[in-house]
Amino acid sequence: MNVKSTFENASFKDFENIPGMGIFERAKELNAFLLYLKENNRHHYRKINYDMSGPMVRHIGPDGKEKELLNLVSNDYLGFSQHPAVKKAAIDSIQQYGTGAGSSPLIGGHYDYHEELERKLCHFFGRPEGCSLVFTTGYTANSATLQALLQKEDIAIMDMAVHASVYEGCLLTNTKRFLHNNLEMLEMALKDAQFKYRNKLVIIDGIYSQDGDMAHVREILQLCRQYGALLMLDDAHGIGVIGANGRGVLEHLDLLQEIDIITGTLSKSFGNIGGFVISSPEMIAFLQYQSRQYAFSAAATPAISGVVKALELFDEEPIWRHRLRENIEYFKKGLTDMGLDVGNTCSAIIPVKIGDPHKTGQVGKMLLEFGIYANPILYPAVSKKDARIRMSLMATHNCEQLGKALEAFEFINKKLELAN
Ligand SMILES: Cc1ncc(COP(=O)(O)O)c(C=O)c1O
Repeated sequence: MNVKSTFENASFKDFENIPGMGIFERAKELNAFLLYLKENNRHHYRKINYDMSGPMVRHIGPDGKEKELLNLVSNDYLGFSQHPAVKKAAIDSIQQYGTGAGSSPLIGGHYDYHEELERKLCHFFGRPEGCSLVFTTGYTANSATLQALLQKEDIAIMDMAVHASVYEGCLLTNTKRFLHNNLEMLEMALKDAQFKYRNKLVIIDGIYSQDGDMAHVREILQLCRQYGALLMLDDAHGIGVIGANGRGVLEHLDLLQEIDIITGTLSKSFGNIGGFVISSPEMIAFLQYQSRQYAFSAAATPAISGVVKALELFDEEPIWRHRLRENIEYFKKGLTDMGLDVGNTCSAIIPVKIGDPHKTGQVGKMLLEFGIYANPILYPAVSKKDARIRMSLMATHNCEQLGKALEAFEFINKKLELAN
């Protein structure tokens, strides 16, 4: 295959595997594609940020001049990565323990600050001690857990919009995908799998990362019980944003104690890095010893103690969650009033669905000219006809900043006729 001839319509997915091509040759091809994107002003990735992760960020523009941009790309939803008390907790822990844990948890890298965090996470989700396990990323919380649990005799049945980490975790087992939030398809898959596999694990997100919409958890749980399947839910984008006390989608639906395995990340509403699993104490002990990425990789650094403080702030300072909710309602209303399609979002992820990938790239560029940093999301992150601008809101954005983004959309909408 001559990839070069199709650069115009190519995506990163085309370079995953090119038949007959060596790995360095394939890397060369990808580099040629990157150059093509840069030369055609279509390269939106790995922009260097010169400032803290706040509502405004500083970048160097194509003219080589520094530019302040409104930050609509951060998942630091509550702004906790910048909260003085969260930073102090992380700094104090580094002062006491240093910058690294030194080894993996099973062989000397497990500290009292990890224990404290795991205890607090159990408490946060209303579970007894021993029900949580901390991983070094949200990605591994999913991939490592799934890899440890599912083998050739089992099947993972997942919503096709789940995160890449779920797909990676299921590489060694059987898989079946169902269309996003489609209960009929899920039921068909469950029926089909009913007597064929040892374990059936249904995997969904609480809030989906590209659409910001919520899973039909109650109905899915009912189907799982009907067909003898287990349910795993990743609430990376729901925790901190959804639920009266910020416990996420499961608090909102009053199902916190009903799900077999809950996963989440510490990199979004907790303002740090890491991930966690909540399950029964037996399952947590199983993962401690059977998850290779947990057992054979260094434990989280002492800076993770910032999360302990963030967990306390969920209850001590609900104001951040309330501000975020006000921002979500204000921004969503502004966009829908213009006739723009934000889909079914109910979270801090706000997509503006455009469809056409070229138009979406154009919108991304125009927003940058207005001083607004928002990501165009293209295939393969979404299907080819479902390109969109994806934005994330933070509690620390103010009305003036979001108003500026709405004005930019108003102008672009008139110019490019985005509204249906
Ligand atoms: C739904 C979902 N799960 C897991 C992850 C991975 O989390 P992390 O970036 O903390 O590794 C992400 C990351 O964006 C996500 O969107």
